[in-house]
Amino acid sequence: MAPLDDAGPLPAPLRGLPARALAARYAEVRLASEALVAHLSPEDLAAQSMPDASPSKWHLAHTTWFFETFLLGPQLADYAVFDPRYGYLFNSYYEALGARQPRPQRGLLTRPGLDEVLAYRAHVDAGMARLLAGDCDEITALVELGLAHEEQHQELILMDILHLFAQSPLKPAYQRPAPHPVTDEPGPLDWIGFTGGLVEIGQAGDGFGFDNEGPRHKVWLEPFSLADRLVTNGEWLAFMDDGGYRRPDLWLSEGWARVQAEGWASPLYWEEAEDGWRAMTLQGQVPIAPECPVAHISYFEADAFATWAGARLPTEAEWELAAQALPVRGHFADRRRFTAHPADPAGSGLRQMFGDLWEWTRSAYGPYPGFRPAEGAVGEYNGKFMSGQMVLRGGCCATPPGHTRASYRNFFHPEQRWMFSGLRLARDADPKVAMVPRAASAFATDVLAGLSRPHKQLSAKYFYDAEGSRLFEDICDLPEYYPTRTETALLRAKAGEMARAIPGGAALVEFGSGASTKTRILLDAAPQLSVYAPIDISPDALAGAVEALRRDYPDLEIAPLVDDFTTALDLPPAARNRPVVGFFPGSTIGNFRPDEATAFLTSARKLLGEGAAFLVGIDLIKAPEILIAAYDDAQGVTAAFNMNLLTRMNRELDATFDLAAFRHLAVWNPDEGRIEMHLESQADQTVRVAGRTFRFAAGERLHTENCHKFTLAGFEALARPAGWRIETVWQWPDPAFAMVLLHA
Ligand code: AVI
Repeated sequence: MAPLDDAGPLPAPLRGLPARALAARYAEVRLASEALVAHLSPEDLAAQSMPDASPSKWHLAHTTWFFETFLLGPQLADYAVFDPRYGYLFNSYYEALGARQPRPQRGLLTRPGLDEVLAYRAHVDAGMARLLAGDCDEITALVELGLAHEEQHQELILMDILHLFAQSPLKPAYQRPAPHPVTDEPGPLDWIGFTGGLVEIGQAGDGFGFDNEGPRHKVWLEPFSLADRLVTNGEWLAFMDDGGYRRPDLWLSEGWARVQAEGWASPLYWEEAEDGWRAMTLQGQVPIAPECPVAHISYFEADAFATWAGARLPTEAEWELAAQALPVRGHFADRRRFTAHPADPAGSGLRQMFGDLWEWTRSAYGPYPGFRPAEGAVGEYNGKFMSGQMVLRGGCCATPPGHTRASYRNFFHPEQRWMFSGLRLARDADPKVAMVPRAASAFATDVLAGLSRPHKQLSAKYFYDAEGSRLFEDICDLPEYYPTRTETALLRAKAGEMARAIPGGAALVEFGSGASTKTRILLDAAPQLSVYAPIDISPDALAGAVEALRRDYPDLEIAPLVDDFTTALDLPPAARNRPVVGFFPGSTIGNFRPDEATAFLTSARKLLGEGAAFLVGIDLIKAPEILIAAYDDAQGVTAAFNMNLLTRMNRELDATFDLAAFRHLAVWNPDEGRIEMHLESQADQTVRVAGRTFRFAAGERLHTENCHKFTLAGFEALARPAGWRIETVWQWPDPAFAMVLLHA
């Protein structure tokens, strides 16, 4: 057997075809299964390493039996069953369909040989080709189920082969090793907060879903946080070093019994060698990479780690709520490296939610309220397994792309660990417990760097914790803060004209959408829009906005994207291949430096694509006293907003800022054309931040924000190098504010 090359023959993508191309998708999925095993030896294909696993050859035949039994037999009048004995050999667990080969003895089936199994596949494929050439309306759902079923077995083939190969002292590689070394550091673990409340989970919309994903229903969630990435091997080693597998206090009773009975001292496939820990993978046995997520752990182990870390596992509803707003993007099987990758260090918000590893949840696998299994034998598909198992979410590096989704429920017994399983920590919203690991977050790193500069400065993006976001909403209602009110009035007055620039069937893509409040004016004026794609870094804000928008605009497809809008690379699929109009209100562009504004406009043009339009709100230069009042209001709300940054550092970075020793300052810088916000030290003082000491002289300023104001010519000078030209300007005279329509 030669290991599979990087350029292996997996057809990709397997999904994403139009529904009417069912036959093409059928062919692709079937080919993909065969490609997975094409380089294996007959011995590899026939062997079974344990009762839970099956030989690859059996998987190939069983998925074929599914199509023959549930589709060809009932639907094709002249269909000739390939071999009537195969019903016994390749029925998996369908009681309604009679007796079958016992599962632990599938490895005894040396016959039929591979050639016969492939001939069986060809026979059934020919039948399916005839069936799919006719009217498919009645059978589409069942064919989709058969294909999703086959995709599940593609993943099982890889799981089972890994288990089989792990039994061999030769530690064979299924595919060639990844280039060494893997060096991407995932960055420190961060927590993403969710307010919870009454939320909906379960499959929504018309796309394919398994029966166990519905009905969609309401769930009450208390406030919670999710770790922004999976637990790594490095963190798992710390757990092991701390006696993780030797301390009964960390384990559920049944888990501890397993630890003792089976001698667990590490994840499955780990072995201690002279030069450190190594793990068996589909690339053979390799040294443990500390930055990669820990894989092949049972529910019991995941739970023990979470207990050790002072955290817990997420519930499936928490996970699904967080995942609903995310694109289903990750390291799936089409990446052709069947191994979990480190979290993207450049990523922000929730990372690794899809692909890489199935994430254990603390939810027992059971029926949702109102669940009814389908009629007939196919009703045995998922429902009858609803006891004694735990739910996993998200898909893994061996899952075919397009196979999983936010509502997808995988399930395994709590002691099983040969699947590609990992964990993400969660915790209740009131964190009295220490975070694990206690390494600095991106916030800490940026703050320490900013305070170390000769002119101390911080990024304005850190204003927006929960309290900062609330204060900003108050700012928008202040009598002095005219931009929100003025822009809203301008939108109301001119939305009809603006809407004329939006082609029929277009997608409106909003950058930093928040609650999408102003957007509604445009949505109301432009019923020709087909898709609204809000992009925001806060999954919480997005989830709330999306729910309300879906309720209020039932005919509009809402395709949210949780991402940093300055670095987002792809539009959500629903917004692609149609006219696109970008929307960036609020004069938020004024918070960028000029070079950053041009860089943002350039990447926005790439994201929005050829021929796109872009509607941008810009605040215009006006009398300094109006500007200063807007950023230094009489009620002191903007001052509180600015000072909240100190409170946040005190809370999150163990900082010692004395709020009474700083004051808020808003100054107009005419040379740069911007309002600057600062925090001015009122005395000589030292402050500790994340274990470091910083000196502030009396009168020294910490620069916290720039709010650029524009002339139309000045704005054009930023937009032109980014490939945009100004097409229309709508201007509010006093206080001066403009909405500018750009064209690529
Ligand atoms: C979000 N951004 C457009 C606001 C502004 O006016 O620059 C932020 C702000 N800062 C203080 N007040 C409002």
